[in-house]
Amino acid sequence: MAETSYDVVIIGGGPGGYNAAIRAGQLGLKVACVEMRATLGGTCLNVGCMPSKALLHASELFEIAADDFAALGIEASPKLNLGQMMKQKDESVTALTKGVEFLFRKNKVDWIKGAGKIAGPGKVDVTGADGKTMALEARNIVIATGSEPTPLPGVTVDQQRIVDSTGALALPQVPESLLVIGAGIIGLELGSVWRRLGAKVTVVEFLDRITPAADGEIAKALQRSLTKQGVEFRLGSKVTAAKTSKSGASLTVEPVAGGAAETLQADHVLLAIGRRPYTKDLGLESVGITPDKRGFIETDHLRTSAPGVWAIGDVTLGPMLAHKAEEDAVACIEMIAGKYGHVDYNLVPSVIYTYPEVAWVGKTEEELKAAGRAYKTGKFPFTANSRARINHETEGFVKVLADAASDEVLGVHMIGPDVSEMIGEYCVAMAFRAASEDVARTCHAHPTRSEALKQAAMGVEGWTMQA
Ligand code: FAD
Ligand code: NAI
Repeated sequence: MAETSYDVVIIGGGPGGYNAAIRAGQLGLKVACVEMRATLGGTCLNVGCMPSKALLHASELFEIAADDFAALGIEASPKLNLGQMMKQKDESVTALTKGVEFLFRKNKVDWIKGAGKIAGPGKVDVTGADGKTMALEARNIVIATGSEPTPLPGVTVDQQRIVDSTGALALPQVPESLLVIGAGIIGLELGSVWRRLGAKVTVVEFLDRITPAADGEIAKALQRSLTKQGVEFRLGSKVTAAKTSKSGASLTVEPVAGGAAETLQADHVLLAIGRRPYTKDLGLESVGITPDKRGFIETDHLRTSAPGVWAIGDVTLGPMLAHKAEEDAVACIEMIAGKYGHVDYNLVPSVIYTYPEVAWVGKTEEELKAAGRAYKTGKFPFTANSRARINHETEGFVKVLADAASDEVLGVHMIGPDVSEMIGEYCVAMAFRAASEDVARTCHAHPTRSEALKQAAMGVEGWTMQA
């Protein structure tokens, strides 16, 4: 095989691309990963999951130290050092992206630095930052080019006054006020960061509810909690114009249902109304692939319409989540290697890393009702969980939805402290098609917050016990 000929060429080095590359290396395939960013890791490691979680963690500790320590008998007067907070975030990101580089070397993955373009069946051309080009040959091409923020006409992101998530992860100082467009995951996570650090945060949302993908009851509880924390919501509102000046930005906002427009002012605006697939200059036409009308590449078991061309992660339909991209990646490479690859898209968990956190897997109540499915509900509040009580973290609840006839768990929805770490239990249970009774009769350690998972399952048959 010529040096530039590969079993697999992957375009994009995010969670989809890098996991695919590493799995291919593990399976002994000759593999190259083309990434045009200066570092590996894609959106998630560089400007997404990782830096946002670093700031969420640090800002949460700041707020706990300021507001909650006194009740525990700890005297402290925390002072913000934003420069250090940003530095530790950047250092964590660098360590993680270097970690992917290390794994590439360990698994004999060639990182080809530059922009990849499909040049026809089995051909990928790469143009480096220096303008030099390289032609690769590939038995299989995997498209893992990810996504980018969705723009809003009339609201121009300049990364100074009007920022997207990337700009909001690196504001040089705490704004006095921040307007967020979109009450989705990015808006609420990054809005929480800056509110905790001292900004007055107002969220403008088109729909009459927040986090449209979450179970409605959970979304209401989250909105109540964030409102108590000081976040202001303008639901059912549309932004019709934006202006910037040296000192700030303003938005013209109108009720969706009709009514008078008003102008909202702030130091910064964060635009977070979703993300769209990224396929710019990818040469899809050279292999006859036409993205759907929203720009997604359609796949059947990760195969595109072009023989030998696969697509994974955010660029394909489905939840735009790093762990979904990773599952796609492993399944795709295993199929390329002639093995069995499988992803259960019903079991991709979602987490919103606000305080309290939100986590869910499977169907929401709204989805079950729309499908006409008969279900039973079990619920358990953290106020009745002993670990939550001794930790003074009693906000939230766990809700289990189970099939009315078979008792199979169909969906689990949680709001509360650290629920991101607990949802995995139900992912495993549901992967084994557990009944709620299976979870209810599984011994959980005491005192732990995870007992709320068992108690909610017990609640499906009405035998929940209080702490
Ligand atoms: P990406 O990570 O977008 O990677 C695609 C890569 O391809 C990029 O590095 C890009 O430079 C490269 N590329 C594109 N075109 C070319 C080309 N022609 N040639 C060479 N390289 C190319 N998800 C979670 O699961 N949990 C979270 O907590 C979370 N937090 C997030 C926070 C923020 C602020 C954002 C923006 C996103 C977050 N996400 C989170 C979503 C997550 O980042 C994405 O779902 C994930 O990165 C998708 O992986 P991917 O590999 O499909 O694409
Ligand atoms: P989102 O899809 O989560 O939310 C966008 C929100 O904007 C929705 O509530 C929508 O109704 C609203 N909206 C749309 N158009 C609008 C308009 N014109 N005016 C006002 N509101 C409008 O998108 P978001 O927050 O940008 O995040 C993008 C994706 O990134 C997420 O869907 C998720 O896949 C991923 N992500 C995941 C995280 C996690 O797993 N914790 C964290 C951050 C991002």
